[in-house]
Amino acid sequence: MKIFRTRAEVYNYLETLKLKGISVGYVPTMGALHQGHLSLIDAARKKADIVVCSIFVNPTQFNDKKDLENYPRPIEADIEKLKEANCDVLFLPEVDEMYNSSDEWHIELDHLDNILEGEIRPGHYQGVTQIVKKLFDIIRPDYAFFGQKDFQQFVVISYMVNKLNIKVQLIRCPIIREVDGLAMSSRNVYLSAEDRQNALSLIKALTKAKEDFNTLSISDVRKNAMDYLSKARGIKVEYFELFNARTFEPASSKENENIIALVAARVGSIRIIDNMIL
Ligand code: PAF
Repeated sequence: MKIFRTRAEVYNYLETLKLKGISVGYVPTMGALHQGHLSLIDAARKKADIVVCSIFVNPTQFNDKKDLENYPRPIEADIEKLKEANCDVLFLPEVDEMYNSSDEWHIELDHLDNILEGEIRPGHYQGVTQIVKKLFDIIRPDYAFFGQKDFQQFVVISYMVNKLNIKVQLIRCPIIREVDGLAMSSRNVYLSAEDRQNALSLIKALTKAKEDFNTLSISDVRKNAMDYLSKARGIKVEYFELFNARTFEPASSKENENIIALVAARVGSIRIIDNMIL
C-alpha cells in the first residue's frame, strides 16, 4: 500500500493512473477503523480498479473541542488493517496540509444542516462538506463510499455533490453491527461495559419501530419508541424521528414514502446514533 502525506503527491500519482483509464474507488475516514470501514473498502474493491482511503480527523466538523482531542487515533493499527484489506493507497495528511488560515467555507444546505444532527451539532455539516469537497478535489474519485450509519451525512454530501455538480458516484453501504446489534462506531471503544449494554436500547427501539410500522400510525410508532427510550436504563435520548429517506423531511404518510427511523442518544458520556429503513 502506498502512503502519501501531501495533496500534490497523491493527486499526481492518481492522475497518472487515471490517464491509463484506471477507475478510483474512495473511502474517506477519520481513522480508528473497524469492520464498518473495512466493509466500505471491500465494496470499493468490487466496484473500482484501485481503492484509495484517507484518514484525517477533521477539526472543522467537531463542535466540541474535547471530542476532537479525545478522538481515537490508532494510526499504526489502522495502517495494518488497510494493508490486510488490500487497500492500494492511503492519504494521510496533517491538519496544515488540508487547511490554511485564509480558508473560508459556507455552503447553503437547504434545511439539511439545521435539523437532527445538524441542530445538536451546529456547524458540523459545514465542516463535513468543507473537508469532503477538499478531499474530492484532490482524489477526484469515480466512486465514493459512505456508511448508512451516518445517514444524514450521506444526504448532505449527496446534496452538495448535486449542487456543485461534482463528478462522482456516491455509494451508500449498509450499517455493520456487532453480533448483539450495536452499530459499529469508532467511539464505541469508549463505552464502559455497562454503557455498552445500555446502548443496545437503540437497536431494540429501532427493531420494535420496524415491527410497529406494520400496524401503527407514524406518530404512534414514534411515540412508542420515545416512551421506550425515555424509560431505558442509562440512556438520554436526543431524538427518535421518522423521516422520508428521499426528501429528508419528517415522514407524513406511510404510502409512497421510503421511511427511515433515526435515533440519537447519550449513553454515559458518549453520543450514539443509529437508524433503520422501515
Ligand atoms: O464519516 C466520517 O468519518 C467523516 O465525517 C468524513 C466523511 C471522513 C469527513 O471527515
